[in-house]
Amino acid sequence: MESRVMLNENIYWIGKIDDRDVPFHRLTLTKGTTYNSYLLMAEKPTVIDTVDISFGREFIENLKSLIDLDRIEYIVINHTEPDHSGGLGALAARAKKAIIVCTEPAVNELKEMYKLHDRKFLVVKDGDTLDIGGKTLRFIETPYLHTEETMVTYCEEDKILFPCDIFSTHAANYKYFNDLAEEDITEDFITYYKLIMHPHRRYVREMIGKIKDLEIDMIAPSHGFIIRQDVNKFIEIYDEMSKNTDKDKKAVIVYSAMGGNTRKIAEILQQGFEESGINVEVMNIKKFSKEEVLEKIKEADAVLFGSSTRYGDMIGKLEDILKELKNMNLEGKVAAAFGSYGWSGEAIEVIQDYINTTTMKALNTSEIIKSTGMTDIHFPLRIRFSPKEEDIKKIKRAAIFTSELILAP
Ligand code: FEO
Repeated sequence: MESRVMLNENIYWIGKIDDRDVPFHRLTLTKGTTYNSYLLMAEKPTVIDTVDISFGREFIENLKSLIDLDRIEYIVINHTEPDHSGGLGALAARAKKAIIVCTEPAVNELKEMYKLHDRKFLVVKDGDTLDIGGKTLRFIETPYLHTEETMVTYCEEDKILFPCDIFSTHAANYKYFNDLAEEDITEDFITYYKLIMHPHRRYVREMIGKIKDLEIDMIAPSHGFIIRQDVNKFIEIYDEMSKNTDKDKKAVIVYSAMGGNTRKIAEILQQGFEESGINVEVMNIKKFSKEEVLEKIKEADAVLFGSSTRYGDMIGKLEDILKELKNMNLEGKVAAAFGSYGWSGEAIEVIQDYINTTTMKALNTSEIIKSTGMTDIHFPLRIRFSPKEEDIKKIKRAAIFTSELILAP
């Protein structure tokens, strides 16, 4: 064990300090990072999160120096990314009776990633509690911070929040606690927030709302420093930085529909923008002149074009508008294509081709995955027939993502 580090009586840090230049989403973390895992030595011993998959074996050896692994009753996985769940396969194989505690969307991911199909899971929801004998864990779902399945765990007796990626810093350190750090961690803390959390700031706001009434003496995240001094200051940084400061951002949704399905997509996008505080205008091109539409496009920060597909092409006069775009100065705007289709959905791809010829930033799935690691944002937004429940979620996510993009400083 790198050292025996205690947060409180019977709560141990059991993580790994990674002081390499750590590759991360096509960047390099030059200060390294840590993967913090915690052992709660309650009557029912519980591990919260694990370490990066590269250090699974070392993690097990370290943990064995503190506890007979057969005694572990629960393994809480707040977030499934392999820098935190990476030790789960090795741990579950040795802690044979341990029940894995996670949110519903995490179950299949963990089963597939670590071959845990026969394992017992305890699925928890917002506000559920778990008595681990002398300590009570409360679970709070924090979806999209920064992936769908994430939650945070709060230990009621010790007043410690275990938020995994949230409130982290990427800095390898051998001091563990912010009050012992050799230099102020605030700058690294803010850099981490901007890089990982800010693109999801709408969900940061929801998370802040959920934790605001908790008494938190210590924040034990899964990267970098454990915060036990000025705890509220660090929560306030998230609170302040996630507030919308720009109320004047605009989106315009321009569409041409055959039946009602593409119109429905436009309406759901509209809701997503409105919920994100964006002024949004929806224009069915049947009802507006080309000049009126082009004027709105000039004023907007985000422009979404949609069409149904008929005879393998767009319908109505949408193409007349798209043809104008390459001659306009639209720099600084983002644009995307959407539409409902029944067979191949060519119109959506043709719109995307037009967008690609403009000076607007064209949203597409590949770029989003490469730049953010998010796999649940889909552009062009292709919906087969009428939007179903899963589609509605996908459409809303697309609007929220676009909103965050234009709101980002
Ligand atoms: Fe630190 Fe999202 O993993």
